[in-house]
Amino acid sequence: MPSPLIVTLDGPAGVGKSSLARRLAAALGIGYLDTGAMFRAVAWRLGPGSWDWGPQRLENGLKDLRFELRDLDGEQVLFLDSEPLDPDIRTEEVGMWASNLAAIPAVREFLKQAQRDIGQSASLVAEGRDMGSVVFPRARCKFFLEAEAMERARRRWLQLKAMGRDADLEEIADQTRRRDRQDRERAVAPLAPAPDAALIDTTRLSEDQVFERLLGLVRAARP
Ligand code: DC
Repeated sequence: MPSPLIVTLDGPAGVGKSSLARRLAAALGIGYLDTGAMFRAVAWRLGPGSWDWGPQRLENGLKDLRFELRDLDGEQVLFLDSEPLDPDIRTEEVGMWASNLAAIPAVREFLKQAQRDIGQSASLVAEGRDMGSVVFPRARCKFFLEAEAMERARRRWLQLKAMGRDADLEEIADQTRRRDRQDRERAVAPLAPAPDAALIDTTRLSEDQVFERLLGLVRAARP
């Protein structure tokens, strides 16, 4: 059996990874793995303050969590303990909890194994912060997306408005910068491109332009 095709898409919060990864996976006919959602789901399950727990309590909290990708009406959907992930994991607040937990080596190690297990049997577009650098170092194609922080905040603000949520642009810009700093400066698996990743600055590109570029590069790299 040929080994699964793994495409990695990394970058900071709000750069557009999720939407691009989902589109890319659909165009290539392979699965989509949202690893930020896995960090968020762990944070949601363990709750605020869990980043200050001691190693034993944390290990107990993590050890029974089971992630899997399931086919739901032709779409690959992440499940935790046989339930689809709770939509409440998507708030900025839970994003910050996830970022706090993501600095803890035991949490990263646990999720790295869960991510590799999923990638062992399925072709994937894997989206996150360290997919190309740590989790799938032998991925066929690696991309690292960048965009100026204010532009990322503006995209997130538009998204929230489209969902009918009240949001303050300056506050989102502030949260974006804080989370960036924390994700880039942590000691374990900091947000950084793999040496062999293609860097794409999306600040002045539309989503369609970035999508076409990614798809073209993956198709060119496929044997
Ligand atoms: O992509 P996101 O905003 O849903 O991710 C939430 C947090 O999870 C992010 O601030 C850092 C962490 N994360 C990580 O450290 N490594 C990943 N591969 C994915 C997410």
